[in-house]
Amino acid sequence: MTLKIERITPRNRLLAWVEDRLPVVSFVAAHTSRYYAPKNFNIWYLFGALAGVALVNQLVTGIFLAMHFKPSAAEAFSSVEYIMRDVEWGWLIRYMHSTGASLFFVVIYLHMFRGLMYGSYKRPRELVWVLGMSIYLVLMAEAFMGYVLPWGQMSFWGAKVIISLFGAIPIVGDGLSHWIMGDYVPADATINRFFALHVIALPLVLLLLVAVHILALHEVGSNNPDGIEIKDKTGSDGKPLDGIPFHPYYSVEDLLSTSVFVLVAAFLIFFAPTVGGLFLEHDNFTEANPLVTPEHIKPVWYFTPYYAMLRVIPDKVMGVVVMFLAIIALFLLPWLDRGKVKSVRYRRFGYKAALGVFVVSFVLLGAVGIGAVAPLLSRLFGSGIDVNLIENWIGRVLLAGYFGFFAFTWVYTRFGIERTRPVPERVT
Ligand code: HEM
Repeated sequence: MTLKIERITPRNRLLAWVEDRLPVVSFVAAHTSRYYAPKNFNIWYLFGALAGVALVNQLVTGIFLAMHFKPSAAEAFSSVEYIMRDVEWGWLIRYMHSTGASLFFVVIYLHMFRGLMYGSYKRPRELVWVLGMSIYLVLMAEAFMGYVLPWGQMSFWGAKVIISLFGAIPIVGDGLSHWIMGDYVPADATINRFFALHVIALPLVLLLLVAVHILALHEVGSNNPDGIEIKDKTGSDGKPLDGIPFHPYYSVEDLLSTSVFVLVAAFLIFFAPTVGGLFLEHDNFTEANPLVTPEHIKPVWYFTPYYAMLRVIPDKVMGVVVMFLAIIALFLLPWLDRGKVKSVRYRRFGYKAALGVFVVSFVLLGAVGIGAVAPLLSRLFGSGIDVNLIENWIGRVLLAGYFGFFAFTWVYTRFGIERTRPVPERVT
């Protein structure tokens, strides 16, 4: 069913004049007051709007940071210090941006998890999911480049480790990683090009992807916690019986969740902006020094599940391949899960257990990647054991859990093993 844009004639004469030439009012109405969303949305449906809020926050604070930031290896670090100490409210803008980046990922991970729970990636929303995954990829590139800009120790060494991964590609690898850096190590050229990509190229791509993501969603309509297509049951007026207009019903709800989100963000920004080194690592408050390697090189928390994959696989090339496969598997999920029922509510133990294993594996891989497991093991078992070896094996088991989810779901649904509960006719 295509989204029909019904023409509206605004009472305001100026708007009516514009509307005759470019139907902006009708367009906005088609996506708000005339967009029918399922009436059974729950808390998990707040995170899409919050991701939008987080994106706008990054864009606005980013613009103000760019007014004072100097994208050169000689001046970047001190320009950030200048923003923190001398620019009026500079510390707030900087923390809104750096803490905001982490909160953005918190929201995105919850938003993605909702999709997994309610089967929102399934037909007819495969494209919504693929576009979402593309956003996730670009967001990771955006965050990675942003972290290099302040030119702290972790900026430099993180960039070095990650960019040199390209060196794992046979034949062209070394050339490629030097081409990306514009030098033999991360240097002035790197920071310059990362600045260009971070402040303009990738944000443009992100905005475009988000717009298409929402257009694609509105074309097919939102899923819901029951996984029922509300467009299948319409009233005599052609409107879905189980739908309510997005505006004002959900716009008000999104306003409320935005207020709570801003409160939580403000609490963190004012009282614990680095969250004990989790959102901004302590090492990044020391200027980049190519001659001094930090004790532990590790990325920010939202990358650590993937970083763990690199760490626990001894072979560098294999590590990179597995990391890419981990992302590709998520992209392909709509075609791997052949189950007839969308929502976890009407699927039985098999999928629920697999999803649980997947989430636990992903989170614990994050703990391995951040380097939290080895110290915990040595505290528990003393120095008598090789904690690094055990940590590696724990990581490998978790990796099996991660990929096991995809393999299990495919076999379970492809060969008709899955038994499901009856899905109600109407939303509950
Ligand atoms: C900047 C990042 C993103 C923004 C601003 C965004 C925005 C939104 C919004 C506003 C909605 C509708 C409201 C809702 O269902 O929560 C939505 C739905 C959806 N998003 Fe995103 N999204 C983003 C990233 C992602 C990512 C990374 C994925 C997954 C890989 C994803 C997958 C989906 C899916 C599957 C739906 C449909 C959910 C349903 O109808 O049940 N999105 N998104």
